[in-house]
Amino acid sequence: QIHPVILSGGAGTRLWPLSRAAYPKQLLPLVTERTLLQETAARNLADVGFAPPLLICNDEHRFLVDDQLREVSIPPQAILLEPHARNTGPAIAAAALWLLARDPDALMLVQPSDHVIADPSAFHRAVMQGLAAAQAGRLVTFGVKPTRPDTGYGYIHGGRPLPEAEGVFEVDRFVEKPDRPTAERFLESGAFYWNAGIFLLSARAYLDELARINPGMLSACERAVRDGKEDLVFFRLGGTHFAEAPSLSIDHAVMEHTNRAAVVPVEMAWSDVGSWHALHEIGRCDGDGNVLLGDVLADGVSNSYIRSEGKLVAAVGLDNVIVVATDDAVLVADADSATKVSGLVTTLRKRN
Ligand code: GDD
Ligand code: MG
Repeated sequence: QIHPVILSGGAGTRLWPLSRAAYPKQLLPLVTERTLLQETAARNLADVGFAPPLLICNDEHRFLVDDQLREVSIPPQAILLEPHARNTGPAIAAAALWLLARDPDALMLVQPSDHVIADPSAFHRAVMQGLAAAQAGRLVTFGVKPTRPDTGYGYIHGGRPLPEAEGVFEVDRFVEKPDRPTAERFLESGAFYWNAGIFLLSARAYLDELARINPGMLSACERAVRDGKEDLVFFRLGGTHFAEAPSLSIDHAVMEHTNRAAVVPVEMAWSDVGSWHALHEIGRCDGDGNVLLGDVLADGVSNSYIRSEGKLVAAVGLDNVIVVATDDAVLVADADSATKVSGLVTTLRKRN
């Protein structure tokens, strides 16, 4: 059966001041009235044949995650708790081990909790397209057509079509977060996809690859699951063991090295809502290209994203800016510099 595995561990620093360590972006209603996590859970419903979702998050966020799922009436199979963030490689390994003990044929649909997919049926179709390949032990990725030389994504070079699965291709190369000149070359070549960050893989195949490529990560996760403690819906991983797993993403730990990767090219309205710029792009713009949210008064303003969480924000004669006002902080940025906000957060952390 397909088990949705929802990763909810990122900090989302580029969406400061709304996204904070205690309240990262996936737990916020950034785009609709539901939070990104709730929207993610909602597109994984049992009516498409999926098992209830398995969540994996930091211990600190356990009640928020649990409450948010209850609020939309989607009870999870379990919520695995990480005592320390070790990135997605170990998180997915822990989920695979937990599932395998309960379902020896478990297929995992691993997905971020902080993406927006406007058309869930396109997402379901893509998953079904990758199903046979995943059952055959392929690590299936989903490829999105790139539109700019973004260095924040993984790039996939598709190879020959898989004979056993229509619409699925071998992966010739997987390059996680290339530098700018490389990303520009990839974009120009027209031969690369962006990795959507969603993976369909059998728990067994992922663990087999990990045993080959990074046995240290696997054994730390095995011990962490073996020493894990169940507590109602929660499953707390054994802390000292989990801390020994190298902190690496699935992309760096496995996808760049495996030769079992496959890609399903997808055409779906997908955004990883990584920055205020991205939220501006997917928001509903008025005639002047503005997205204005909350108590905002604008005059002679164009191409701007202005969001207030309370206070009145008044703006006059501005173009291409981002303003986000919360109770205790206000961000004012040039729209083209929106991704630099995470640098600001690093400085802030040092100051505090
Ligand atoms: N549980 C848990 N623990 N979740 C985590 C952890 C962790 O330690 N670290 C990150 N996550 C979650 C994040 O919350 C997010 O939902 C997802 O895992 C992916 O992590 P990101 O940190 O957002 O990865 P990324 O955006 O830099 O890169 C990945 O996604 C891109 C697409 O958005 C890669 O897979 C890229 O190749 C891909 O292009
Ligand atoms: Mg991301």
